[in-house]
Amino acid sequence: MSERLEDIAEAMVASGQGILAADESTGTIKKRFDQIGVENTEDNRRAYREMLFSADEAMNDYISGVILFDETLRQKAADGTPFVEMIRKAGAVPGIKVDKGAKPLAGFPGETVTEGLDGLRERLAEYHELGARFAKWRGVIDINEEDGLPSSTCIQANAHALARYAALCQEAGIVPIVEPEVLMDGPSASHDIETCYEVTEWTLNTVFAELFQMDVLLEGMILKPNMIVPGKNASFQASAEEVAELTVRCLKATVPAAVPGIAFLSGGQSDVQASEHLHLMNASGNLPWTLTFSYGRALQQSALKAWGGKGDNVPAAQAAFLHRAKMNGLAARGAWSKDLEQA
Ligand code: 13P
Repeated sequence: MSERLEDIAEAMVASGQGILAADESTGTIKKRFDQIGVENTEDNRRAYREMLFSADEAMNDYISGVILFDETLRQKAADGTPFVEMIRKAGAVPGIKVDKGAKPLAGFPGETVTEGLDGLRERLAEYHELGARFAKWRGVIDINEEDGLPSSTCIQANAHALARYAALCQEAGIVPIVEPEVLMDGPSASHDIETCYEVTEWTLNTVFAELFQMDVLLEGMILKPNMIVPGKNASFQASAEEVAELTVRCLKATVPAAVPGIAFLSGGQSDVQASEHLHLMNASGNLPWTLTFSYGRALQQSALKAWGGKGDNVPAAQAAFLHRAKMNGLAARGAWSKDLEQA
């Protein structure tokens, strides 16, 4: 495969395919395993990821890239094949989460800034050696209207860190996924859809100004934003059509056409909602970038439940994963429908 940043980025958003976000940290995967009563051991984490990466049809046909956590990038399947090798064989690009998490922002209660820039150049060199060709860094913006959040300081600090991370990635021959997430399921989450639009527009404008400052090659990056949705506790929920329309409008107003692709996070949407929203956006047509998925929960939830930590359930779990991968692959082409969900 080509090592040019532009070519890697194009491959990550290949038509009808998207990214599997399987980069849950050890703490986050514990929360997922707790839901199904599975102990959070290294071997269970390995077995769970092997179930996903060996789902041949899902991986070959619908997955263009996989985001891994440090531990997973170094793990092997039960037969000794490195996970990185399995992912490559399926025609997907292996990627790595490189941020060290959202930490309290000093002087700004309730807000965070994502850490992990110190030593990042050296870590990226090692990840490249281990086979990663893209990376991910997530900045977190929470809306809390009672407390007047977010602050411009929080948005600025996260945008700055995202841009410094992106520049370091490109220096290392790694495509950065730039992920500024405006939360739909934060501690308050009572904001309406218009507020999500305003805060996302503000955030994306700030992020692209910082990317320009750091001389980041737009053609060699992927944006991973939230969709424009109300907070999960909002009194008025929005229709799928409204979400799709406002999301496209917000992105057109903020994301340069030089960016090859936008791969959404699911952020707490149900798996079917996440597919429907992506479908409606693509079906609306006339978009300057490829719009696809980079889902964690919305791709994995049903497979995780079907698996339940038991080897015997691997075929059922892989069937559940295939179904979601296929639904999202269709949504990425604007070819999804509710009837296909039932089939
Ligand atoms: P969700 O799709 O579950 O939001 O996860 C995507 C992700 O990578 C968050 O950083």
